[in-house]
Amino acid sequence: MRVGILTGGGDCPGLNAVIRAVARSLIQLDGTEVIGIEQGFLGLIERRVRPLDLDSVADIMATGGTILGTHNKANPFGYFGAGGADVSEATCAYVRELGLDAIVVIGGDGSMAIAHQLAARGIPVVGCPKTIDNDLAHTDRSFGFDTAVAIVTEALDRLQTTGRSHGRVMILETMGRYAGWIALHAGLAGGADIILIPELPYRLDEVARVCREREAREHYTLIAIAEGARPEGGQLTVKERIEDSPEPIRLGGVGNVLRTQLEPLVGCEVRTTILGHVQRGGPPTPFDRVLATQYGHAAAQLVAQGNFNRVVVLRGTQIESVPLADVAGRTRNVPLDHPLLRTAWDTGVSTGTAPL
Ligand code: F6P
Repeated sequence: MRVGILTGGGDCPGLNAVIRAVARSLIQLDGTEVIGIEQGFLGLIERRVRPLDLDSVADIMATGGTILGTHNKANPFGYFGAGGADVSEATCAYVRELGLDAIVVIGGDGSMAIAHQLAARGIPVVGCPKTIDNDLAHTDRSFGFDTAVAIVTEALDRLQTTGRSHGRVMILETMGRYAGWIALHAGLAGGADIILIPELPYRLDEVARVCREREAREHYTLIAIAEGARPEGGQLTVKERIEDSPEPIRLGGVGNVLRTQLEPLVGCEVRTTILGHVQRGGPPTPFDRVLATQYGHAAAQLVAQGNFNRVVVLRGTQIESVPLADVAGRTRNVPLDHPLLRTAWDTGVSTGTAPL
Protein backbone atom coordinates (compact mmCIF):
# COMPACT_ATOMS: atom_id res chain seq x y z
CA MET A 1 0.00 0.00 0.00
CA ARG A 2 1.00 3.63 -0.54
CA VAL A 3 -0.65 6.09 1.79
CA GLY A 4 -0.46 9.88 1.60
CA ILE A 5 -0.76 12.16 4.60
CA LEU A 6 -1.38 15.89 4.75
CA THR A 7 -2.06 18.61 7.31
CA GLY A 8 -4.52 21.30 6.13
CA GLY A 9 -5.83 24.63 7.46
CA GLY A 10 -4.36 26.42 10.48
CA ASP A 11 -1.70 24.54 12.44
CA CYS A 12 -2.17 23.33 15.99
CA PRO A 13 -0.13 21.54 18.66
CA GLY A 14 -0.20 17.76 18.16
CA LEU A 15 -0.09 17.64 14.34
CA ASN A 16 3.36 16.05 14.41
CA ALA A 17 2.24 13.49 16.96
CA VAL A 18 -0.53 12.39 14.55
CA ILE A 19 1.87 12.26 11.57
CA ARG A 20 4.26 10.17 13.67
CA ALA A 21 1.55 7.76 14.83
CA VAL A 22 0.08 7.30 11.33
CA ALA A 23 3.52 6.68 9.82
CA ARG A 24 4.76 4.36 12.56
CA SER A 25 1.52 2.32 12.56
CA LEU A 26 1.46 1.96 8.76
CA ILE A 27 5.19 1.32 8.24
CA GLN A 28 4.87 -1.68 10.59
CA LEU A 29 2.49 -3.24 8.07
CA ASP A 30 4.60 -5.11 5.52
CA GLY A 31 5.18 -3.22 2.33
CA THR A 32 3.36 -0.02 3.28
CA GLU A 33 4.90 3.22 2.09
CA VAL A 34 3.95 6.56 3.60
CA ILE A 35 4.11 9.72 1.50
CA GLY A 36 4.11 13.17 3.12
CA ILE A 37 2.18 15.79 1.12
CA GLU A 38 3.63 19.26 1.63
CA GLN A 39 1.56 22.28 2.70
CA GLY A 40 -1.81 20.59 2.82
CA PHE A 41 -3.83 20.43 -0.38
CA LEU A 42 -1.34 22.81 -2.00
CA GLY A 43 1.16 19.93 -2.20
CA LEU A 44 -1.38 17.87 -4.16
CA ILE A 45 -2.09 20.78 -6.50
CA GLU A 46 1.55 21.78 -6.98
CA ARG A 47 2.90 18.22 -6.96
CA ARG A 48 5.08 18.46 -3.88
CA VAL A 49 5.42 15.24 -1.87
CA ARG A 50 8.21 13.36 -0.08
CA PRO A 51 8.54 9.88 1.39
CA LEU A 52 8.18 9.56 5.16
CA ASP A 53 10.20 6.83 6.85
CA LEU A 54 10.78 6.08 10.53
CA ASP A 55 13.72 8.51 10.66
CA SER A 56 11.69 11.39 9.26
CA VAL A 57 9.11 11.06 12.03
CA ALA A 58 11.63 10.56 14.84
CA ASP A 59 11.79 13.12 17.67
CA ILE A 60 8.81 15.17 16.48
CA MET A 61 6.30 14.30 19.24
CA ALA A 62 7.00 17.43 21.27
CA THR A 63 7.48 19.81 18.35
CA GLY A 64 4.71 22.31 17.63
CA GLY A 65 3.47 23.07 14.11
CA THR A 66 3.70 20.46 11.36
CA ILE A 67 6.78 19.00 9.68
CA LEU A 68 4.76 18.81 6.45
CA GLY A 69 3.76 22.47 6.45
CA THR A 70 0.16 23.57 5.97
CA HIS A 71 -1.90 26.06 4.01
CA ASN A 72 -5.20 27.70 4.86
CA LYS A 73 -6.21 28.76 1.35
CA ALA A 74 -5.31 25.81 -0.88
CA ASN A 75 -8.45 24.21 -2.31
CA PRO A 76 -8.41 22.06 -5.48
CA PHE A 77 -12.06 23.02 -6.09
CA GLY A 78 -11.19 26.73 -6.18
CA TYR A 79 -7.45 27.24 -6.49
CA PHE A 80 -6.26 30.77 -5.64
CA GLY A 81 -3.19 30.23 -7.88
CA ALA A 82 -5.46 29.79 -10.92
CA GLY A 83 -7.89 32.64 -10.23
CA GLY A 84 -10.21 30.39 -8.21
CA ALA A 85 -10.50 27.74 -10.97
CA ASP A 86 -11.45 24.14 -10.23
CA VAL A 87 -8.24 22.08 -10.59
CA SER A 88 -9.64 18.99 -8.89
CA GLU A 89 -9.38 16.80 -12.00
CA ALA A 90 -5.63 17.40 -12.27
CA THR A 91 -5.31 16.94 -8.50
CA CYS A 92 -7.09 13.57 -8.59
CA ALA A 93 -4.97 12.54 -11.59
CA TYR A 94 -1.83 13.33 -9.56
CA VAL A 95 -3.12 11.19 -6.65
CA ARG A 96 -3.59 8.28 -9.07
CA GLU A 97 -0.20 8.91 -10.67
CA LEU A 98 1.40 8.70 -7.22
CA GLY A 99 -0.37 5.37 -6.75
CA LEU A 100 -1.90 6.45 -3.43
CA ASP A 101 -4.36 3.91 -2.03
CA ALA A 102 -5.60 6.44 0.51
CA ILE A 103 -4.94 9.89 1.94
CA VAL A 104 -5.05 10.68 5.65
CA VAL A 105 -6.28 14.28 5.93
CA ILE A 106 -5.55 15.95 9.26
CA GLY A 107 -7.60 19.12 9.40
CA GLY A 108 -10.58 21.11 10.61
CA ASP A 109 -14.04 21.56 9.11
CA GLY A 110 -12.71 23.27 5.96
CA SER A 111 -10.22 20.46 5.23
CA MET A 112 -12.89 17.85 5.92
CA ALA A 113 -15.19 19.56 3.41
CA ILE A 114 -12.44 19.38 0.74
CA ALA A 115 -11.68 15.76 1.70
CA HIS A 116 -15.37 14.95 1.31
CA GLN A 117 -15.39 16.45 -2.20
CA LEU A 118 -12.27 14.45 -3.12
CA ALA A 119 -13.91 11.30 -1.75
CA ALA A 120 -16.86 11.97 -4.06
CA ARG A 121 -14.33 11.95 -6.94
CA GLY A 122 -13.22 8.45 -5.92
CA ILE A 123 -10.19 9.30 -3.76
CA PRO A 124 -10.20 7.13 -0.60
CA VAL A 125 -9.78 9.41 2.42
CA VAL A 126 -9.57 9.07 6.21
CA GLY A 127 -9.99 12.23 8.32
CA CYS A 128 -8.48 13.22 11.62
CA PRO A 129 -10.01 16.16 13.58
CA LYS A 130 -7.62 19.04 14.30
CA THR A 131 -8.37 22.43 15.78
CA ILE A 132 -7.65 24.36 18.96
CA ASP A 133 -11.26 25.60 18.73
CA ASN A 134 -12.72 22.16 19.61
CA ASP A 135 -15.65 22.98 17.33
CA LEU A 136 -15.71 19.96 15.01
CA ALA A 137 -19.00 18.10 14.80
CA HIS A 138 -19.31 14.64 16.38
CA THR A 139 -16.13 14.71 18.44
CA ASP A 140 -15.83 15.66 22.10
CA ARG A 141 -12.19 16.72 21.70
CA SER A 142 -9.96 17.72 18.84
CA PHE A 143 -6.26 17.62 19.66
CA GLY A 144 -4.70 21.06 20.20
CA PHE A 145 -7.60 22.22 22.35
CA ASP A 146 -6.09 21.04 25.63
CA THR A 147 -2.83 22.86 24.84
CA ALA A 148 -4.66 26.08 23.98
CA VAL A 149 -6.65 25.85 27.23
CA ALA A 150 -3.41 25.36 29.19
CA ILE A 151 -1.85 28.45 27.58
CA VAL A 152 -4.92 30.60 28.21
CA THR A 153 -5.14 29.33 31.79
CA GLU A 154 -1.53 30.30 32.45
CA ALA A 155 -2.21 33.75 30.99
CA LEU A 156 -5.23 34.18 33.30
CA ASP A 157 -3.12 33.13 36.29
CA ARG A 158 -0.63 35.84 35.40
CA LEU A 159 -3.27 38.48 34.70
CA GLN A 160 -4.90 37.73 38.04
CA THR A 161 -1.82 38.75 40.07
CA THR A 162 -1.19 41.96 38.15
CA GLY A 163 -4.93 42.76 38.10
CA ARG A 164 -5.19 42.29 41.86
CA SER A 165 -2.09 44.42 42.51
CA HIS A 166 -3.47 47.38 40.55
CA GLY A 167 -7.16 46.90 41.32
CA ARG A 168 -8.04 46.70 37.62
CA VAL A 169 -10.46 44.92 35.34
CA MET A 170 -8.30 42.57 33.25
CA ILE A 171 -9.78 41.30 29.98
CA LEU A 172 -8.23 38.32 28.17
CA GLU A 173 -9.40 37.61 24.60
CA THR A 174 -9.11 34.01 23.43
CA MET A 175 -9.37 32.41 20.00
CA GLY A 176 -12.12 29.92 19.18
CA ARG A 177 -13.92 31.38 16.14
CA TYR A 178 -17.68 31.12 16.60
CA ALA A 179 -17.46 28.70 19.56
CA GLY A 180 -16.72 29.48 23.19
CA TRP A 181 -15.01 26.23 24.19
CA ILE A 182 -11.54 27.72 24.86
CA ALA A 183 -12.86 30.70 26.84
CA LEU A 184 -15.25 28.52 28.85
CA HIS A 185 -12.73 25.82 29.82
CA ALA A 186 -9.80 28.17 30.40
CA GLY A 187 -12.02 30.72 32.10
CA LEU A 188 -13.09 28.11 34.64
CA ALA A 189 -9.54 26.78 35.04
CA GLY A 190 -8.08 30.28 35.44
CA GLY A 191 -10.72 31.45 37.92
CA ALA A 192 -12.23 34.12 35.65
CA ASP A 193 -15.04 36.10 37.29
CA ILE A 194 -16.78 36.69 33.97
CA ILE A 195 -16.70 34.39 30.91
CA LEU A 196 -18.15 35.75 27.67
CA ILE A 197 -18.80 33.31 24.82
CA PRO A 198 -20.41 33.60 21.38
CA GLU A 199 -23.25 31.26 22.32
CA LEU A 200 -24.50 33.71 25.00
CA PRO A 201 -24.49 37.33 23.78
CA TYR A 202 -23.63 39.42 26.84
CA ARG A 203 -25.35 42.44 28.41
CA LEU A 204 -22.88 45.25 28.95
CA ASP A 205 -24.80 46.54 31.97
CA GLU A 206 -24.57 43.10 33.59
CA VAL A 207 -20.80 42.86 32.93
CA ALA A 208 -20.36 46.37 34.42
CA ARG A 209 -22.54 45.48 37.42
CA VAL A 210 -20.38 42.44 38.25
CA CYS A 211 -17.18 44.51 37.87
CA ARG A 212 -18.50 47.27 40.17
CA GLU A 213 -19.63 44.74 42.74
CA ARG A 214 -16.18 43.14 42.69
CA GLU A 215 -14.53 46.57 42.84
CA ALA A 216 -16.22 47.11 46.19
CA ARG A 217 -15.33 43.65 47.53
CA GLU A 218 -12.20 42.29 45.80
CA HIS A 219 -10.93 45.40 43.96
CA TYR A 220 -10.22 43.57 40.69
CA THR A 221 -12.05 41.49 38.04
CA LEU A 222 -10.80 38.88 35.59
CA ILE A 223 -12.73 38.50 32.31
CA ALA A 224 -12.18 35.76 29.68
CA ILE A 225 -13.83 36.72 26.39
CA ALA A 226 -13.93 34.56 23.26
CA GLU A 227 -13.07 36.34 20.00
CA GLY A 228 -16.53 35.44 18.67
CA ALA A 229 -18.42 36.95 21.62
CA ARG A 230 -20.70 39.95 21.03
CA PRO A 231 -23.06 42.10 23.07
CA GLU A 232 -26.80 41.46 22.91
CA GLY A 233 -28.06 43.04 19.71
CA GLY A 234 -24.45 43.83 18.68
CA GLN A 235 -22.12 42.67 15.94
CA LEU A 236 -19.16 40.32 15.79
CA THR A 237 -15.79 42.10 15.90
CA VAL A 238 -14.08 41.30 12.59
CA LYS A 239 -10.32 41.87 12.47
CA GLU A 240 -9.87 41.41 8.72
CA ARG A 241 -11.28 39.78 5.59
CA ILE A 242 -9.01 37.50 3.57
CA GLU A 243 -10.94 37.33 0.34
CA ASP A 244 -9.15 34.36 -1.29
CA SER A 245 -9.48 32.22 1.85
CA PRO A 246 -12.21 29.51 1.95
CA GLU A 247 -13.20 31.19 5.22
CA PRO A 248 -12.60 34.91 4.62
CA ILE A 249 -13.57 36.36 8.02
CA ARG A 250 -10.91 36.62 10.73
CA LEU A 251 -12.28 37.54 14.14
CA GLY A 252 -10.36 39.51 16.76
CA GLY A 253 -10.45 42.68 18.82
CA VAL A 254 -13.64 42.25 20.84
CA GLY A 255 -11.51 42.51 24.00
CA ASN A 256 -10.59 46.07 23.03
CA VAL A 257 -14.21 46.89 22.14
CA LEU A 258 -15.31 45.66 25.57
CA ARG A 259 -12.60 47.73 27.28
CA THR A 260 -13.80 50.92 25.55
CA GLN A 261 -17.42 50.18 26.45
CA LEU A 262 -16.68 49.17 30.03
CA GLU A 263 -14.25 51.87 31.15
CA PRO A 264 -16.88 54.65 31.53
CA LEU A 265 -19.12 52.28 33.52
CA VAL A 266 -16.62 51.19 36.20
CA GLY A 267 -14.53 53.05 38.72
CA CYS A 268 -11.16 51.48 37.92
CA GLU A 269 -8.80 51.06 34.99
CA VAL A 270 -9.44 48.36 32.41
CA ARG A 271 -6.73 46.53 30.42
CA THR A 272 -7.01 44.06 27.54
CA THR A 273 -4.65 41.26 26.47
CA ILE A 274 -5.18 39.46 23.16
CA LEU A 275 -3.28 36.17 23.15
CA GLY A 276 -3.65 35.40 19.46
CA HIS A 277 -1.47 32.75 17.86
CA VAL A 278 0.44 32.06 21.07
CA GLN A 279 -2.50 29.70 21.69
CA ARG A 280 -1.58 27.66 18.62
CA GLY A 281 2.20 27.43 18.87
CA GLY A 282 4.68 25.38 20.85
CA PRO A 283 4.66 21.86 22.24
CA PRO A 284 1.41 19.96 22.84
CA THR A 285 0.35 19.00 26.37
CA PRO A 286 0.69 15.31 27.39
CA PHE A 287 -3.10 14.95 26.93
CA ASP A 288 -2.90 16.24 23.35
CA ARG A 289 0.12 14.02 22.59
CA VAL A 290 -1.79 10.94 23.74
CA LEU A 291 -5.00 11.95 21.93
CA ALA A 292 -3.10 12.77 18.74
CA THR A 293 -1.29 9.42 18.92
CA GLN A 294 -4.61 7.60 19.43
CA TYR A 295 -6.14 9.45 16.48
CA GLY A 296 -3.15 8.69 14.25
CA HIS A 297 -3.21 5.03 15.20
CA ALA A 298 -6.99 4.81 14.65
CA ALA A 299 -6.68 6.53 11.25
CA ALA A 300 -3.98 4.03 10.21
CA GLN A 301 -6.24 1.16 11.29
CA LEU A 302 -9.11 2.46 9.16
CA VAL A 303 -6.73 2.67 6.19
CA ALA A 304 -5.43 -0.86 6.81
CA GLN A 305 -9.04 -2.16 7.00
CA GLY A 306 -9.98 -0.35 3.80
CA ASN A 307 -12.62 1.52 5.81
CA PHE A 308 -12.47 4.82 3.94
CA ASN A 309 -14.26 8.16 3.92
CA ARG A 310 -14.57 8.22 7.69
CA VAL A 311 -13.24 10.57 10.36
CA VAL A 312 -11.82 9.37 13.67
CA VAL A 313 -13.52 11.00 16.68
CA LEU A 314 -13.47 10.90 20.47
CA ARG A 315 -16.76 10.07 22.20
CA GLY A 316 -16.38 10.12 25.97
CA THR A 317 -13.18 8.13 26.39
CA GLN A 318 -13.61 5.98 23.26
CA ILE A 319 -11.98 6.58 19.89
CA GLU A 320 -14.58 5.85 17.21
CA SER A 321 -15.19 6.93 13.62
CA VAL A 322 -18.06 8.60 11.78
CA PRO A 323 -18.76 9.14 8.07
CA LEU A 324 -16.86 12.08 6.57
CA ALA A 325 -20.18 13.41 5.28
CA ASP A 326 -21.40 13.91 8.88
CA VAL A 327 -18.42 16.12 9.77
CA ALA A 328 -17.63 17.98 6.53
CA GLY A 329 -18.21 21.72 6.83
CA ARG A 330 -20.07 21.42 10.15
CA THR A 331 -19.17 23.00 13.47
CA ARG A 332 -20.14 22.38 17.08
CA ASN A 333 -20.98 25.14 19.53
CA VAL A 334 -21.27 25.06 23.32
CA PRO A 335 -24.86 23.86 23.93
CA LEU A 336 -26.73 26.13 26.31
CA ASP A 337 -27.50 23.14 28.55
CA HIS A 338 -23.83 22.17 28.78
CA PRO A 339 -22.92 21.13 32.36
CA LEU A 340 -19.92 23.48 32.43
CA LEU A 341 -22.22 26.49 32.05
CA ARG A 342 -24.27 25.32 35.02
CA THR A 343 -21.00 24.80 36.96
CA ALA A 344 -19.95 28.35 36.10
CA TRP A 345 -23.23 29.92 37.20
CA ASP A 346 -23.52 27.84 40.37
CA THR A 347 -19.98 28.81 41.41
CA GLY A 348 -20.69 32.51 40.96
CA VAL A 349 -19.12 33.04 37.53
CA SER A 350 -21.04 35.49 35.35
CA THR A 351 -21.56 34.97 31.63
CA GLY A 352 -22.78 38.54 31.25
CA THR A 353 -26.36 37.25 31.16
CA ALA A 354 -28.90 36.05 33.68
CA PRO A 355 -28.29 32.28 34.31
CA LEU A 356 -30.61 30.21 32.09
O1 F6P B 1 -9.37 27.81 13.80
C1 F6P B 1 -8.22 28.07 14.53
C2 F6P B 1 -7.97 29.55 14.66
O2 F6P B 1 -6.80 29.73 15.44
C3 F6P B 1 -9.14 30.35 15.25
O3 F6P B 1 -9.26 30.20 16.64
C4 F6P B 1 -8.80 31.74 14.77
O4 F6P B 1 -9.95 32.53 14.69
C5 F6P B 1 -8.21 31.49 13.41
O5 F6P B 1 -7.75 30.15 13.39
C6 F6P B 1 -7.06 32.40 13.06
O6 F6P B 1 -6.72 32.15 11.74
P1 F6P B 1 -5.38 32.68 11.06
O7 F6P B 1 -4.26 31.81 11.55
O8 F6P B 1 -5.63 32.53 9.61
O9 F6P B 1 -5.17 34.09 11.51
